[in-house]
Amino acid sequence: MKYGYFDDRNREYVITQPDTPLPWINYLGCQAYFGIISNTAGGYSFYRDARLRRITRYRYNNAPFDLGGRYLYVRDDASGEFWSPSWQPTRQQLENYSCRHGLGYTTIGSRYQGIEASTRYFVPLDENLEIWQLTVTNDRPQAAELCIFSLIEFCLWDAQDDSTNFQRNFNIGEVEVENGVIYHKTEYRERRDHFSFFACSEPLAGFDTQRDTFLGPYRGWENPIVIARGQSCNSIAHGWAPIGSHHIKVALEPGESRQIVFVLGYQENVREEKFDPPNSQVINKKKAKCTLSRYLTSANADAAFEKLRAYWDDLLGICQVETPDVHTNRMVNIWNAYQCMATFNMSRSASFYESGIGRGLGFRDSNQDLLGFVHMVPERARERILDLASTQLPTGGAYHQYQPLTKRGNNDIGGGFNDDPHWLILGVAAYLKETGDWGILDERVPYDNQPGSETPLYEHLQRSFCYTLQRLGPHGLPLIGRADWNDCLNLNCFSDSPGQSFQTTTNKDGKVAESVFIAGLFVLAGCELAEITRHRGRTAEAHSYLAEVAKMKETIRKHGWDGEWFLRAYDDFGRKIGSKECPEGKIFIETQGFCTLAGIGLEHGSAAQALESTRKLLATKHGIVLHQPAYTRYYLEYGEISSYPPGYKENAGIFCHNNPWVIIGETRVGNGDAAHDYYIRINPSAREGISDLHRCEPYVYAQMIAGRDAPTHGEAKNSWLTGTAAWNYYAITQWILGIRAGYDGLVFEPVVPRAWRGFRATRKFRGVTYNITVDRAGPGNQVTLEVDGSAVSGSVVPPPPHGTKTVAVQVTLQ
Ligand code: BGC
Ligand code: NOJ
Repeated sequence: MKYGYFDDRNREYVITQPDTPLPWINYLGCQAYFGIISNTAGGYSFYRDARLRRITRYRYNNAPFDLGGRYLYVRDDASGEFWSPSWQPTRQQLENYSCRHGLGYTTIGSRYQGIEASTRYFVPLDENLEIWQLTVTNDRPQAAELCIFSLIEFCLWDAQDDSTNFQRNFNIGEVEVENGVIYHKTEYRERRDHFSFFACSEPLAGFDTQRDTFLGPYRGWENPIVIARGQSCNSIAHGWAPIGSHHIKVALEPGESRQIVFVLGYQENVREEKFDPPNSQVINKKKAKCTLSRYLTSANADAAFEKLRAYWDDLLGICQVETPDVHTNRMVNIWNAYQCMATFNMSRSASFYESGIGRGLGFRDSNQDLLGFVHMVPERARERILDLASTQLPTGGAYHQYQPLTKRGNNDIGGGFNDDPHWLILGVAAYLKETGDWGILDERVPYDNQPGSETPLYEHLQRSFCYTLQRLGPHGLPLIGRADWNDCLNLNCFSDSPGQSFQTTTNKDGKVAESVFIAGLFVLAGCELAEITRHRGRTAEAHSYLAEVAKMKETIRKHGWDGEWFLRAYDDFGRKIGSKECPEGKIFIETQGFCTLAGIGLEHGSAAQALESTRKLLATKHGIVLHQPAYTRYYLEYGEISSYPPGYKENAGIFCHNNPWVIIGETRVGNGDAAHDYYIRINPSAREGISDLHRCEPYVYAQMIAGRDAPTHGEAKNSWLTGTAAWNYYAITQWILGIRAGYDGLVFEPVVPRAWRGFRATRKFRGVTYNITVDRAGPGNQVTLEVDGSAVSGSVVPPPPHGTKTVAVQVTLQ
C-alpha cells in the first residue's frame, strides 16, 4: 500500500494520508538554521547544533510517536469548533489532506468544513529564520468568522539540559513581547548573547507565552483551553515553559483567501550591545526588527522561496541522468542527492531517530558522506575536510566525533576506532578527484585543534596510513581497537555490566583482535595515497605505499581468506570471526563488499567467489544482510553486535550502508545485472508499493531493513542520516552508470544491466558540462569513447582546452 506518490516534475513527494506508518519527514535549512518537519508539522528547529542551540522543544519517542511542532489551529467562531490543518495535534477527519515534501520546504494543507488551509514552511537562504506562509480560503457559500492560533514551544537552548535539569529550568524561562512579536530570552540575562523571535504579519487579537495558561490544567496540545474559549490570555512566561502563540481573527467572504506569514528566527547580538537601553535588561532588537520587516510580507517571502528553488535546481543540475529505470532516475536526480546534502548538514546528529543530543559529526561518517556531496558543494566539502582533519590526533588516530558548534573533538567518546584515519584519506581523495584542487594538501592543519601543531594536510594523510602500520596484530592484519566500521563488533570490550557503553568500554589491551575489514580499507586507502603522492612527484614514497599495500594483500590472502569468502576478523583469543568454522556469524558482508570493491582478489578469482558466496548466503529480496547465521545469544567477546535480537541492526539486519560495497564489487567483476538488481532491492522508490511493510519514507534510504531472522523482515528503521545515502549515490552514479571523477579527468566505465540499450546523462565537472550518451552495441562492458566527435582511447576524458564550456561524450558499450 502507498501513502502518497512522487511528483517528479516538481521534485516533491506528496503524502495523501496523514497517518503514515511512521512520521515521514523533511529537513528545512541548508546553512546554519535548520529544522526537521514531519508530514503533520511535527519537529523542531535549531541553530547549527541540535544539542547546544535548540530553538524549539521536541519530545522524542512520544505517544503518538510524533507530537509537538510548528502547529496552527483554525477555529470557527460560529460553532466554536477548531482543528489543525496539518492534522496533528487535533487529528480530525479532514476532508482532504496533502503534505508536499520538496527540496528544503514542506507544504501541508487540508480542507475541513469548507475551509482550505495550507502552510508552506521553509528557511530562506542566508538567513537564520524560518517562514510559515499560511493561505486560508473560505470555500463555503457563506461568510466565515475564523480565528487562527499559532503554536511553538521554546527549548531552553541546551537540549540535553532542557530535558533533564528541571529543578533549574522551571525557574529560568523569560520572554518579552513587543508589538505582537514574541522574543524568547531565557539565559539572555547571563551568558547567552542570543535569543529567538516569533512574529506574525497580521494585527493580533492576543498572544500567549506561558504554556500552562495556553493549555489549561490537564489538557494537551489537542485541546488547549485558550483555543476552546477562542481568546488568548496575553500571558507572559515567568519560569516554567515558554511558548509562542499568536491569535489572529480572520473574516472571509465566500471564495475569499488570506495569506498570513509567520516568522520564527534566531538572532545573536555582540555582547556589548546586548541590551537596549544599555543598562537595562531589555533585548536590543534592532537587527531582529530589521530582518522581520523584510520577511513578514507575502511578496518577499515568495521571492525568498524562489531563490531557494533556484539553489536546489543548481545543485541537482550538476548530475542528471535519464536511464530506462524510473527508480534510478528519481533517486539519482532528486532524492538520493538531496539526502546526501542532509547527511552533509546533519551527519548523524538530528533526525526522528537521532535525538540531536547523542551524536555530533562523526569522523568516519562525515568523511564517507563526502562521496555523496562533494560534487554539489566542493567549497564546503573543503572546509569540512579541514575541520575533520583538525580533530585528528598526533598519532594519526582520530576523535570519533566532534560537536559542530565548537568543532572540537568529543572527549566522552574519544578515539581508538582503528578504521577512522583511513576515511580521511578516502575523503580527501574524493575531493581531489572532483575538484583537482591539489592546493588543499598544503593547507596547514592542527592536530586535536592545538595551535602550534599544524602540518600540511598531506602529512595528516601520511600519519593516517602509518597509524595502521604501527598497529598490526599477530597475523600482520590491522588491530581493530574499539571497533572498525562496524561500531558493534567490540572485540576488546568484554562488557558484562548493564549500561556500559560498548563503544567506549575497553577491558582488553587490544594487542590480539584484528580486522580483515581494516585490511581491505588499508589497501584501498593505500592505493589512493600512492596516487596522490605520485601526483606530488614523490615517486619513491608512492612505491613504498604500494609495497605496503601489496604486503597487506598477501596477508589477506594468507590469513583473511576462508576458502570461499573473506574472513571478518580475529577475536581477542585469536579465533576466527566470519568463518565456516564458526557456529554463528560464519560470513559477513563487510569484507566481501569492501575487499572486492578495493579490487582484492580480482586477479585470482577470490573476488568473484566472495560475491558468489554473498549471493548464496546473505542476499534476500529486501537486500543483503550483514552476516549469517545471526547471533542468537550475547557473546561477551563480540560485544554490541550480539546484543541485538537476531535480524536487527548490526546483528544480521540489512545494513543498507554496506550493500553498495557489494554493488560496486559486482561492477568490478563486470556484473551489471547483479549490481543493479541489488541496487533496486533497497532503492526506497522501488519499495514504495510495500510502504506498509517498509514503513519509512519511500523517498530516502533508511539505515537498516530488518533481516531475514527478524519477525518483521523488510521493515526499515532509522531513515535519513546514514552512510547509505552517500554510498548508494556513489555506487549508482560512479560505478553502475560509471561516470566517475578521476584524478586526471572524468572516467567513463558503465557496468549497466545487459537489457539496457543505453542511457543519457549530464554531468558538470570542474567547470565543464559533459553531455553524455551511452549506447549498447554488444552485451559487455568494453568502452569506446568519442569526445566531440573524435575517438579517444581508453576510458578517461582528459580536461578539455581552457574556456570550453560543454563537451559531448559518446560512449559505446561492446
Ligand atoms: C549502533 C550503531 C552505531 C553506534 C554508534 C550503536 O548502538 O548500533 O549503528 O554506529 O551505536 O554510536
Ligand atoms: C552507524 C554509524 O554512524 C557508522 O559510523 C557505523 O559505521 C555503522 N553504524 C555501523 O556500525
